[in-house]
Amino acid sequence: MEAGAAAGAVPRGGPPAGEGKGAAPRSRHRSSAPRIRAPQWLKYPVIALSLLPAAWLAFALWSDLTRNTRLLGANPVKEMEHYLGEWNIRFLVLTLAVSPLIQATGWGWLIRYRRIFGLLAFLYIFLHLTVYFVLDVELDAALLVEDVTDRLYITLGMAGFLLLVPLAITSTKGWIRRMGNRRWNALHWLIFPAVVLGMVHYYMAVKRDIREPLVYALIFGVLFWARLRNRRGSRGQAA
Ligand code: HEM
Repeated sequence: MEAGAAAGAVPRGGPPAGEGKGAAPRSRHRSSAPRIRAPQWLKYPVIALSLLPAAWLAFALWSDLTRNTRLLGANPVKEMEHYLGEWNIRFLVLTLAVSPLIQATGWGWLIRYRRIFGLLAFLYIFLHLTVYFVLDVELDAALLVEDVTDRLYITLGMAGFLLLVPLAITSTKGWIRRMGNRRWNALHWLIFPAVVLGMVHYYMAVKRDIREPLVYALIFGVLFWARLRNRRGSRGQAA
């Protein structure tokens, strides 16, 4: 998701791809920015690091189940849902931060991390949903449907998840080629309504202390604004 032309269609160190023909961000800072090239292998430690939260959760669950530790506290299912939901939000922030960062620095090579972070965000939301479905509603499809229809925050979360599915599916180079940059980019704007739905879901789920969702809402607001500003800028240049 929010990805891909990424690794393949972009000239190394060049502008972010997957932004559409003619809409590739032309950073005002690019010419003066130092040309930094990241080594190819850097993505492996980045991915390994990004998977640590999931690995820790798996370990905590295993430890609580087999050694009777209480790493996940008194309500392990809720703890897992919260933990995975929050990591999903963090990776959505990272995904959306890549383009503005490229704009500011001219480091076009960062584009491949947009795809990586996007897929990691999807992984965490998928795990979030899996914990909910397997451990919370205990694989009861009728209960799932009831929750989705009766509890607004679940409805909104599910809608956010469903919007992210086509982005994850089309994140491969093959899909980008098949769809063409313009259509692919248009589809990947879905990440914005998905984030809005996810954030409202988050706000409703936390119940009491709303400081964290508000901080994330502010961060997303800035990132949305940066993206819209960039889009207007590249349209202006094209005109
Ligand atoms: C873009 C989509 C989504 C995002 C960004 C998201 C994010 C979050 C976050 C951050 C939390 C933690 C709230 C806290 O700290 O208290 C949470 C809680 C939760 N989420 Fe999601 N979520 C999404 C989709 C879903 C879906 C599809 C489901 C299930 C159908 C779901 C079910 C839950 C549940 C059951 C909780 C725990 C609420 C409670 O405390 O009772 N979420 N979500």
